[in-house]
Amino acid sequence: MPRLIDTHAHLFDERFQSDLPQVLERAAAAGVERIVAMGIDIATSMACVELAAKYPILVASVGIQPNHVAEAHADDWPKIERLATTPSVVAIGETGLDRYRDRAPFALQEEYFARHLELSRRLQKPVVIHCREAEADVVRMLKLDFDKNGPVSGIMHSFSGDAATAKECLALGLHLSFAGMVTYKTADALREIAREVPLDKLLVETDCPYLSPVPMRGKRNEPAFVFHTANGLAQDRGIDVVELCERTTQNALRLFGSSIAPMKN
Ligand code: NI
Repeated sequence: MPRLIDTHAHLFDERFQSDLPQVLERAAAAGVERIVAMGIDIATSMACVELAAKYPILVASVGIQPNHVAEAHADDWPKIERLATTPSVVAIGETGLDRYRDRAPFALQEEYFARHLELSRRLQKPVVIHCREAEADVVRMLKLDFDKNGPVSGIMHSFSGDAATAKECLALGLHLSFAGMVTYKTADALREIAREVPLDKLLVETDCPYLSPVPMRGKRNEPAFVFHTANGLAQDRGIDVVELCERTTQNALRLFGSSIAPMKN
């Protein structure tokens, strides 16, 4: 039986409202030991912490996603900072930069990204980075931060950048996490990049409810489906899927720390 950790799931989404207990049962049955419930603003971050208190399989990540920074109130950030100290919160984010959806001024996105990086260092919880059509800017900010403060513990989530970006992020010490996209027929270039990621820097995630992996494509995505992404990556690397699951699970456990390791009761 493979052991898996879904490092990125938007379980607050209304698409999970009617059947979340069943979704979590299916995940456990598929070998998923832990799921990181990801917030994208103050309300959903609070929801994730509440879900983690209710369901032992869940831990939480809190932050304000770049597409949501413009609508954040002044006191949302101090609330995130307080919420981030909760023991069930294992990561900071998601944060990052996004030029694809023009929903927030870029300078404001940069300001919030910098805040998340600082909070991640201060609390020693890894930062979860979203990057869409902003690879050069994300790398620029990470390098500045690296030169000033040294390596930060973190994840490039649902990685979709090019080989050069992957190389730079790995050189900065970051982990690369892959979602369902890497299983798509047209994603040869992304698979080629995923194949080159050292096994000790590789993670898997669903980013559910979005972008279900093959053969579930078109359906609502859910944490149980993370197996299909792991399976795709394993086939592509020519290694056993159980080994790929085990390695990515070990990486997640090491990254998120002891709070994620023993099953809570
Ligand atoms: Ni996300």
